[in-house]
Amino acid sequence: MSVKLSVNINKVAWLRNARGGNVPNLIQVAKDCERFGADGITIHPRPDERHIKYQDVYDLKNHITTEFNIEGYPNEKFLKLVEAVKPEQCTLVPDPPNVLTSNAGWNTINNEIFLKEVIDRLHKAGCRVSLFMENNLDFINKAKEINADRIELYTGPYAENYNENKENAIFDYIKSAEYAFKIGLSVNAGHDLDLNNLAYFSEKIPYLQEVSIGHALISDALYYGLENTIQLYKRQL
Ligand code: PXP
Repeated sequence: MSVKLSVNINKVAWLRNARGGNVPNLIQVAKDCERFGADGITIHPRPDERHIKYQDVYDLKNHITTEFNIEGYPNEKFLKLVEAVKPEQCTLVPDPPNVLTSNAGWNTINNEIFLKEVIDRLHKAGCRVSLFMENNLDFINKAKEINADRIELYTGPYAENYNENKENAIFDYIKSAEYAFKIGLSVNAGHDLDLNNLAYFSEKIPYLQEVSIGHALISDALYYGLENTIQLYKRQL
């Protein structure tokens, strides 16, 4: 079975916000991504609403027919939004409010009680819960203990080291994915994946369920068009 591609459309919202109107139309882009082959749509509303606005989340929910994945730091406002919208998947990230982009995974040991309560709450809303994680087997083990359904491996370091030495770059990810599978966690991945590094990751990582890709994919669409770009990414998987 091929790995699912969830397209992160944050950058489309960011472009729209640059002029304050509704161009490009976020909902139309989400629907077109699905039509062009995306298996899911990911968004990451941030407290400053610099790309996805909270209202976008409600609007998108009525139109998405594939899997809807909402990422974010689980403060009360975010949790209320997710409980109201009930996406198929909620990916929790430990971002401080003003960070440029997610750049670290959870320390599930230090945050055990907090995360367990959040996960229970999201399960009650019917969401699958994924935790954004680095390659730390103790933290991955704790993710399972606190009832996460999946982990999303933070692939920033993989992407950074890929060109220098791809075997080294992927080594710890293989260990993490194998361990996660062994203890009953499904595995997603995301961050800085692109047409250069995606195929190798997907080929080498056992049990990979889904990748979520935004920045590189939307940038490539400027050159190849959205339909071709989504098909190019799908082919890597
Ligand atoms: N996963 C998480 C948790 C993220 O925060 C992001 C960026 O919003 C991505 C995946 C996608 O990363 P990129 O935009 O580099 O493809």
